[in-house]
Amino acid sequence: ESTTEVDVSAIQPGQAIKAVFRKQPLFVRRLTPQEIEEANAVPLGSLRDPQTLEERTKSGHVDMLVTMGVCTHLGCVPLGAAEGENKGEFGGYFCPCHGSQFDTAARIRKGPAPKNLVVPDYEFTSDTTIVVG
Ligand code: FES
Repeated sequence: ESTTEVDVSAIQPGQAIKAVFRKQPLFVRRLTPQEIEEANAVPLGSLRDPQTLEERTKSGHVDMLVTMGVCTHLGCVPLGAAEGENKGEFGGYFCPCHGSQFDTAARIRKGPAPKNLVVPDYEFTSDTTIVVG
């Protein structure tokens, strides 16, 4: 099983980078304080796939959101990780294939995707480095 190391030190709040994990796109996004607030303000009962931002991030690193860049509908790559891309109605990611909309915690909010963007197994090996897988 291969792992992927990602240097997250250059990601500014509000920015994301794309990496590759086991031949699939991986998004690493640093949330702004406002994006964290927006995620925490959503009632869990209103979510199709109820998970808190805290559950989807690592302790002490709630601003660093690591997900697969693979739509849980039919596997397209959502937009929103690159500069200038459409982040969708909920400020997270937008899948152009059939219009799924994900929020700032990459949770499904609207459209056909059944599940949130998947958070892979990973850990911080330093404050600036994660190892995925
Ligand atoms: Fe993303 Fe269908 S593959 S909405």
